[in-house]
Amino acid sequence: MKRILSGIKPSGEITLGNYLGAMKRWVELQQQEEAEFFYFVPNLHALTVRQDAKTLAINTLSDAAWLLAMGVDWRRSTLYVQSQVPAHSELTWILNNYVTMGELRRMTQFKDKSAKQGPEGQLAGLFGYPVLMAADILLYDADEVPVGEDQVQHVELARDIAKRFNELHGPVFKLPRATVQDSGARIMNLQDPAQKMSKSDQDQGGVVMLTDSLRVIEAKFKRAVTDSGDQIKASPSKPALSNLLTIFSLLSDEPVAKLERRYEGKGYGEFKADLAAAAVNAIHPLQERLYDLMSDRDRLISILQQGRDKAAAIAEAKLSEVKAKLGLL
Ligand code: ADP
Ligand code: TRP
Repeated sequence: MKRILSGIKPSGEITLGNYLGAMKRWVELQQQEEAEFFYFVPNLHALTVRQDAKTLAINTLSDAAWLLAMGVDWRRSTLYVQSQVPAHSELTWILNNYVTMGELRRMTQFKDKSAKQGPEGQLAGLFGYPVLMAADILLYDADEVPVGEDQVQHVELARDIAKRFNELHGPVFKLPRATVQDSGARIMNLQDPAQKMSKSDQDQGGVVMLTDSLRVIEAKFKRAVTDSGDQIKASPSKPALSNLLTIFSLLSDEPVAKLERRYEGKGYGEFKADLAAAAVNAIHPLQERLYDLMSDRDRLISILQQGRDKAAAIAEAKLSEVKAKLGLL
């Protein structure tokens, strides 16, 4: 049976970009009958940036709770925390020997994030980040990895590592494939449509956090920048409106073309007010479910425990197969 796997790093609060670009789709994918799902919180990946222990623990639980609030069904999908399955770390060490420094240096995310500190000051963990991600994927024989555009390169590297290992030792790993949805792959900042909406950015009103109060969410949309002219149309020359239309379309499940027709001849003010209302309508019930889930910590921990048990059984079997191939006793 086809396996679908993905993860959301607990490095801060979840943004609307994370939801519309990735997590919403993970929920929708569950409708496929002939597939198994693995959704996890890669908390080890968060260590590449200094973390406060309490905050990391809370963010890990709340990421899992967000997934449940959005509709990840823990009976249908395996939901777990990366650090609770030690096979991820163990396979990472092994895979470090099947990837070159050159390959890792070419990763765009590494180049972007390391530009600030210079190569000597950079943590080895950031350099090896994609290898841990490869282990996350390869342990479960994942066929498809639904991610945003920025993660495609990492999934391709996981595929290359798998291929190389298989060529040397026989068919051990499935070759994974990244799947990126057509629309929403890149939700842009509401104040600067040239920039991705990202939780790591200083919030100048352009990043919508799912925990923002409804009043703040509304205000952020009403204050979103628009393009010159007065037409409500998606086009490469109208990056701000294209982004707003994409968001509106994903929130309301209506095609962009239909929204363009509805707002023909209407003003930006009315459009943004309706979009703000659509955002509030979509986010409000998610927040209610999240607060409910977070208020019963024991239940949440028990759901993750069950996920851990299922995940660990699969991961440990794969790790044993790898060790046997390498002569590791
Ligand atoms: P961030 O950039 O907010 O720190 P992550 O790197 O943790 O987010 O990404 C988590 C998932 O959400 C990834 O699959 C990523 O591709 C997706 N994602 C993040 N930001 C956006 C965005 N603005 N638009 C679409 N998808 C996004
Ligand atoms: N690196 C991903 C991100 O920053 C998170 C992640 C870790 C992941 N391991 C994964 C995503 C495995 C998909 C599959 O968003």
